Amino acid sequence: MLNLYRSAVGKKVLMALTGLMLFGFVLGHMVGNLKIYQGPEKLNAYAEWLREVGSPAVPHGGVLWIARIGLLAAVGIHILSAWQLTRMSRKARPHDYAKLESVQLTYASRTMRWGGVIVALFVVYHLMHLTWGSLHSDFIPGDAYHNVVAGFQVLPISLFYIVAQVALALHLNHGLWSLFQSLGWNHPSINPWRRRLAGAFAAIVFIGNVSFPIAVLTGLVA
Ligand code: HEM
Repeated sequence: MLNLYRSAVGKKVLMALTGLMLFGFVLGHMVGNLKIYQGPEKLNAYAEWLREVGSPAVPHGGVLWIARIGLLAAVGIHILSAWQLTRMSRKARPHDYAKLESVQLTYASRTMRWGGVIVALFVVYHLMHLTWGSLHSDFIPGDAYHNVVAGFQVLPISLFYIVAQVALALHLNHGLWSLFQSLGWNHPSINPWRRRLAGAFAAIVFIGNVSFPIAVLTGLVA
C-alpha cells in the first residue's frame, strides 16, 4: 500500500477519487442553488436544512461539519497529490524537451495545473464573499438569497464569477476525462463516451452556475 501511495499511479488514483468527491460537491451545490429560482424562502430554507439535517441524532450543523471536513480533506489531498506529481514529473525530466513530443498532452496538463490554482483562488474568494461575508458590502448572515442577489448586482463581481466558471468547466472536462483513465476505465470502445460524458457534465455545471449571475443581472432574479 505504501509503495502504491508513493508511486505516480497511486497519486493519480488519489487525485481521481478526491476529484470525484469534489465533482459530486460541485454538481450537488449547483443543483441546490437552483432553488434561487423558487424564491428567497425556498433557498434560505434549503440553507437552513443543510444545518438541521441529522438532528436530533447529531447536534445542529453536525452533518454539515462532517461534510465540510470531508470536503476539506479531499481538497487537501487533491492539491498535495497534484503538487507531488508535478515535482515527480519535473525530476524525471529536469530539462524541457528540445522538441515537444506530445504538444496536446503537455498543454492539457499545464492547463490543469494553472486551472486548478485559479479554481482554488476562486473558492477562497467565494467563501469570503458568500459564506463569511468579509468581501461583501451588504452581507446579511443567514440570508443566502439576499447575499447572492446583492452580490451579483455588482457587475465586476458577476463577470469574475462567470470567468471563474470557464476555468472550472475546463478543469472539470479534462479532470473527468482523465479520472476514468486513472481508475482504469480506458478502452477504445468506451473512450468516445468518456469524452462526451466529461464534456456533458462540465457543460451542465457551467450552464447552471453562470445562469445565477446572468439571472440577477437581467433582473430575472431580484
Ligand atoms: C455562481 C455559482 C455559485 C453560487 C450562486 C454559489 C452560492 C453559494 C452560497 C450562497 C453559499 C453560502 C451558503 C450558506 O452559507 O448557507 C456558498 C457556499 C459555498 N460554495 Fe458556492 N456558489 C456558487 C459556485 C460555487 C463553486 C463553483 C464552488 C466550488 C468550486 C463553490 C463552493 C462553495 C463552498 C465550498 C461553500 C461553503 C459551503 C459550506 O461550508 O457551508 N460554490 N455558495
